[in-house]
Amino acid sequence: HHLRPFVLGLPKTELHLHIEGTLEPELIFALAERNGIQLPYPSVQALRDAYQFTDLQSFLDLYYAGAGVLITEQDFYDMTMAYLLRMRAEGVRHVEIMFDPQTHTVRGVDISTVFAGLARALREARDSWGLSAYLLLSFLRHLSEEDALVTLEQALPLREAYLDLWIGVGLDSGERGNPPEKFARVYERCRTLGFRLVAHAGEEGPAEYVRNALDVLQAERIDHGVRSEEDPALLQRLIHQRTPLTVCPLSNLKLQVVDELDQHNLARLLRLGLCVTINSDDPAYFGGYLVENYLATAQALNLTAPQLATLARNSISASFLPDARKLALL
Ligand code: ADE
Ligand code: ZN
Repeated sequence: HHLRPFVLGLPKTELHLHIEGTLEPELIFALAERNGIQLPYPSVQALRDAYQFTDLQSFLDLYYAGAGVLITEQDFYDMTMAYLLRMRAEGVRHVEIMFDPQTHTVRGVDISTVFAGLARALREARDSWGLSAYLLLSFLRHLSEEDALVTLEQALPLREAYLDLWIGVGLDSGERGNPPEKFARVYERCRTLGFRLVAHAGEEGPAEYVRNALDVLQAERIDHGVRSEEDPALLQRLIHQRTPLTVCPLSNLKLQVVDELDQHNLARLLRLGLCVTINSDDPAYFGGYLVENYLATAQALNLTAPQLATLARNSISASFLPDARKLALL
């Protein structure tokens, strides 16, 4: 794509990224071997060939299975460092990474192992090439609020040790039937504790879930949010409040949130004046990292260079970086 050098050079951040979604099939196989885990696929290619999704749940089944190879601190480090090296190559200046501790603690992996591996990679990237990073601990919405509260309590003793990284919480996993209201208490507790708040809403779920993520959870940023378009009053609110949407075009295509990328509403939302950003979600599963998401979207929606620059600038202003750092990047 002729805009590749331009997009590579844009100062930009990634704000919607599940670190478990960066596990490439090759690394899944390598970690399985290292940990003596038998995978139900004969080869890397057979695993990759299984990545044919019809909806969010069909993806989540493979995503949680893939994360089952993560056992040691080194595993979490290796996964995270592989992603950060790609972001260095793509000209990314800052990342806000979600991780799903419940996926690991349920298998007997200690939450401190997860934090330690992620943090070692993130600090190394910061110290060696100046890529900054924050962590957003995400609660799995298909599990109970009680489970989320227990997870928060398990993580809180680690807060001091990771103050430079762990700045907020998120909400992910199967959206339908798991509305934001289900997590009102845990979000209230996180708000009291001073955490920044994001939540997935309006990916497969209705616009009402976006509304309740704002009203009940007091989310400051909405992950996906593309179905907000179904509610004009909500759209006006998102515009006036400048609530950012972290949109993931290739994810929406692979999970059949849209049938074709040229039907994606990102350009419409951008034209209406929403603070839209482009992100990769689970790049190892959806066929492209951040720059690929920019370019595929530009191609499908005929985005211009100035529009791509606006999207990159939005990704900086929508981040949780201090204002001084935002200004330095803009
Ligand atoms: N977990 C990982 N990726 C997700 C997505 N796109 N939606 C909800 N939960 C997720
Ligand atoms: Zn996501």
